[in-house]
Amino acid sequence: MNKLTVRDVDVSGQRVLVRVDFNVPLDERTGVITDDGRIQAALPTIRYLIEKGARVILASHLGRPDGKVDEKLRMTAVAQRLSQILGRPVKAARDCIGAEVEESVASLKNGDVVMLENLRFHTAEEENDPIFAQGLAKLADIFVDDAFGTAHRSHASIVGVAKHLPAVAGLLLEKELTMLGDILDKPSHPFAALLGGAKISDKVAMVENIMGKVDCILVGGGMAATFLKARNLEVGLSLIEGEMLETATDLMEKATGSGIRLLLPDDVLVANEISAEATFKVVPVDKIPTDMRVADIGSQTVKSFSEELRGCKTIFWNGPMGVYEIPIFAEGTIDLAKLLAGSQATTVIGGGSTAEVVADMGLTDKMTFVSTGGGASLRFLGGKSLPGVDALLDKESPAGS
Ligand code: 3PG
Repeated sequence: MNKLTVRDVDVSGQRVLVRVDFNVPLDERTGVITDDGRIQAALPTIRYLIEKGARVILASHLGRPDGKVDEKLRMTAVAQRLSQILGRPVKAARDCIGAEVEESVASLKNGDVVMLENLRFHTAEEENDPIFAQGLAKLADIFVDDAFGTAHRSHASIVGVAKHLPAVAGLLLEKELTMLGDILDKPSHPFAALLGGAKISDKVAMVENIMGKVDCILVGGGMAATFLKARNLEVGLSLIEGEMLETATDLMEKATGSGIRLLLPDDVLVANEISAEATFKVVPVDKIPTDMRVADIGSQTVKSFSEELRGCKTIFWNGPMGVYEIPIFAEGTIDLAKLLAGSQATTVIGGGSTAEVVADMGLTDKMTFVSTGGGASLRFLGGKSLPGVDALLDKESPAGS
């Protein structure tokens, strides 16, 4: 990585503003954090700063409150969880800019940690408003971006603030770029991409970019229905992306032309509705009833995908194989997650729902690397630059200039 990191600057006694991505899933009813993976992932940077005697000011968004204060999306629960993990107080500020926050930051001692309030309670955050960015910058001497999950957003706390402070990468951001960079630049072969989830549209750029690097692409999940339809198969009531049919055909042709095996399901689990009470059955892909929809891959597909994956040395996985949240449609995803967890291959998991599945199954530690970024990892693997990374100081730049 050609960017300066937190190790390259003297943080001792400095006020360090750290953009983290603590956009963690919350239980809708209780507001309890259901997966603290993103908090855990930021710990190396936070602990490093504490050890070096920095005054640590954490900033994050949580959910999409669209510029309004939403009591359910306050950072209080996140600050409490972080405090438990660190075994030291983490004060939760009532806002993220303004006089009260400035006072709170001024009272920090070396090694203290404060969590600012949800950045997205201000519309100015997503608008990358320069005054708001200055308000954030005023709180600190150094800016550390450790929010890989939000690096694809050009927001004030990501790119705006970097214009006013020496801006360097945190240890998580560095690790994400190294791990994802390595599977693009030097994967061990055979290299397979296991893709699922609902939509092709958000993965096209990534699939095109990895075409020249992978040996095999396996397609499951809701997006498989669009590929099946592009092969002129009946997909019943399955949700397909009509505008993506041509793209799906193109991708299949490109794969064939490049000698890449692109595997679609042989059989699928179809259901009359997407609910826990649904009637369902497994059928070959050329026998999907007109009044049912694809909800998971079938057992024959799990077998053929497993055979392919067992021979691989690198596996990238993005997207569940079915509607994982509903147990009757979760089997395909569970079987393949277990296979990856037991595999000797380098297993890299895209963020978002795939990371949540792996965490839910207690398999995070069994994978080589689980990215904290859903949209960000897709963009990066799509060969596109990330505004949050571009905004940081290059290695050859003198820090603080
Ligand atoms: C994510 O969860 O993907 C990141 O936190 C970014 O969130 P956003 O999609 O609401 O910008």
